[in-house]
Amino acid sequence: EKIVLAYSGGLDTSVILKWLQLKGYDVVAYVADLGQISDVAPIKEKALSSGAVDFHCLDLKEEFVKDYVFTSIKFNALYEGRYLLGTSLARPIIAKGMVDVAHKTGAKFLSHGATGKGNDQVRFELSAAALDPSLTTITPWRIPEFFNKIKGRQEAMDFAQEHGIPVKATKSQPWSSDDNLMHISFEAGILEDPAARPPKEMFEYSVDPKDAPDKAEAVEIEFEKGTVVKLNGKSLSPANMLVELNKIGGRHGIGRVDMVESRYVGMKSRGVYETPGGTILMAAHRDLEALTLDGAVINLKETLMPRFASLVYNGYWFSSEMDCLKALLEKSQEYVTGTVRLELYKGNVICIGRESKYSMYNMMVVSMDDDKGAYDQTDAAGFIKLHSLPLRAHAARAKK
Ligand code: ARG
Ligand code: SIN
Repeated sequence: EKIVLAYSGGLDTSVILKWLQLKGYDVVAYVADLGQISDVAPIKEKALSSGAVDFHCLDLKEEFVKDYVFTSIKFNALYEGRYLLGTSLARPIIAKGMVDVAHKTGAKFLSHGATGKGNDQVRFELSAAALDPSLTTITPWRIPEFFNKIKGRQEAMDFAQEHGIPVKATKSQPWSSDDNLMHISFEAGILEDPAARPPKEMFEYSVDPKDAPDKAEAVEIEFEKGTVVKLNGKSLSPANMLVELNKIGGRHGIGRVDMVESRYVGMKSRGVYETPGGTILMAAHRDLEALTLDGAVINLKETLMPRFASLVYNGYWFSSEMDCLKALLEKSQEYVTGTVRLELYKGNVICIGRESKYSMYNMMVVSMDDDKGAYDQTDAAGFIKLHSLPLRAHAARAKK
């Protein structure tokens, strides 16, 4: 039987690959390139030398940024107020590629290396179920025969050595990380104590804000219907846009988050994230919405945002509730077209100017300088009088 394994080239998925092969499966190793891969050749070689019968690498970079990352930016989505969802957004597209490879190769089984304690298993499997319910997922980290044998890194290395899987001599880092074009996340290991500060050398996408340049850098971002199209006047593809923004934001220490979050499986976990480009984009997008969206629509989006963020975090990308939210989101972005100017300075994104041909801002109405007749101040008296009616009634009742 063929099985498609979401493969990273690391120790864990190599051990899983070999174990599945020993269980009698023909393992098709599958890699989704979301920007984390610099050279696919050694990964392919390792997959084949670990026992894979076939290897597929899908370049999903543009699709990931355009359809997943940019959608989340349009919602200004933050999970529990801070997490920009970089890993959560990646899982459904990885699962989609995995299902595509299963269809291409005729496999009826899927497998992944996510543990039984995390969110990723849920995201992979809910996505796969939504895309093709006829496929069955085999999850070694939830099978006692596997996890009782591979208890930790030492056992995994012993198993690898025993089966001729090449093991890198490099010392493993005392935390686990996951990276793609949107972010890099760190958790586990020495980060498990939420009181302990992460070491300076852990960070990869950004400098420490304290070490960032003393001079602010100006950036101009242009949006069309809520999607970024130009950076400093230059058109870039979605993936290249994020690469560029990560570079610029990274050198100013933008987008670091250190937080405790609630996993869908019920436990609290501590995560550290670097999302420089996404943080700049979200600040700019939010700023342009303030200029171009009706106030009630801003409020509606703000109300629905946590719901969207939870759907993403919990693995419901391919759900009908999500489809409905996305339809509303697209409608809301109709007029979110224009330009935002920002300054980046030591971890801060500061919006300094914005303009749009669809601006709802009316200087004639708002100006304190002189009365141009666009707004009659005497109207405000009746407005306040009627709105205060229930407040007066409440106050009168309280005196009884
Ligand atoms: N806690 C984050 C999330 O649930 C990051 C997960 C990181 N995953 C990983 N396999 N290292 O989205
Ligand atoms: C894992 O447990 O595989 C990673 C962490 C997570 O999925 O939340």
